[in-house]
Amino acid sequence: MIILAIESSCDETAAAVSRDGREILSDVVYSQADMHALYGGVVPEIASRQHAEKVSLVAEEALRRAGVGRADLDAVAATCAPGLIGALLVGANFAKACALALDVPFIPVHHIRGHIAACYVADPALEPPFTALVASGGHTVVIDVQDYTHMEVLGASRDDAAGEAFDKIARVLSLPYPGGAALDRLAQGGDPDKYRLPRAGVHGAPFDFSFSGLKTAAVNLLHNAAQKGECVDRAALAAGVCRAVADSVVPRVVEAALHCGRRTVAAAGGVAANSVLRAQLECACRQNGLSLCLPPLRLCGDNGSMIAAQAYYEYLAGNIGSSAQNCYATMPASENLSRWL
Ligand code: KG4
Ligand code: ZN
Repeated sequence: MIILAIESSCDETAAAVSRDGREILSDVVYSQADMHALYGGVVPEIASRQHAEKVSLVAEEALRRAGVGRADLDAVAATCAPGLIGALLVGANFAKACALALDVPFIPVHHIRGHIAACYVADPALEPPFTALVASGGHTVVIDVQDYTHMEVLGASRDDAAGEAFDKIARVLSLPYPGGAALDRLAQGGDPDKYRLPRAGVHGAPFDFSFSGLKTAAVNLLHNAAQKGECVDRAALAAGVCRAVADSVVPRVVEAALHCGRRTVAAAGGVAANSVLRAQLECACRQNGLSLCLPPLRLCGDNGSMIAAQAYYEYLAGNIGSSAQNCYATMPASENLSRWL
């Protein structure tokens, strides 16, 4: 089964073609990051307009690279939630129009489920059940993946996502947007114990996270030092932030996997590219006898392959959308999107 999938939930216009889910025939990502860097963060209106300009070009390029004609497509998929609503609507409406014109099914895909499916692309042997961490610019969630289309959200951030904290701290450190990867590089060689930074939890909710305290602590440290004319050891602060995020996330994910009796942990989302988080996950999973799926960096950030892979499993489960399918800025990953018109 050949699927063309579109991803446009934030600032990447992406398209991919997959055969039977996991075999990726092409993967094209147009990043708008340079455009948003001028403003220090994603400007939703600009994101929507950029998607509108690029989506058909990116999709055509994905078909060309895959060596696939329009008539070869068996379905067209798109991310329909969660994300920037205007951005989602551009990709979803493009995909719905393609499906209508080609008389093939339209498959709505949940972005978080898509991130998890990046692990299927990365590891052909990975099968549910397993415990997934999805950490991105908008979400930090721990999910029990019971099968490809049934999942239970075990925990989530109560305030900022980990990526949001990384990006805001990076901005105050004058690093270029998006700051997470730059902060990770700055942290190399820094002393993570030089500054005391908080690791917050949520009382009574063992798998929930909180990152706004960490964000505020790091930003205040930088502002106070600037007011006093003192120097900050930027590499040490960056290393401390990476360590604090990993210290918050890793034990909860491992605990969640053990709690659910799972043998495997999978990590995904842009923040899963973080080198400290990856190292700590590897170490903790080894110590607890859990196997770990960590996708390569190119599959951690937003891409079309992950949507194409998940779309295949949604199709097999009968989760087909119609041309009336709407998009949603927020939606739990446990929801079946095709039931939300
Ligand atoms: O999954 P993603 O591409 O988009 C969303 O769905 O949000 O994640 C983007 C986030 C941004 O906050 C970015 O700064 C962060 O992932 N990120 C990182 C790293 N690479 C990307 N954060 C920490 N360390 C990294 N190496
Ligand atoms: Zn994402």
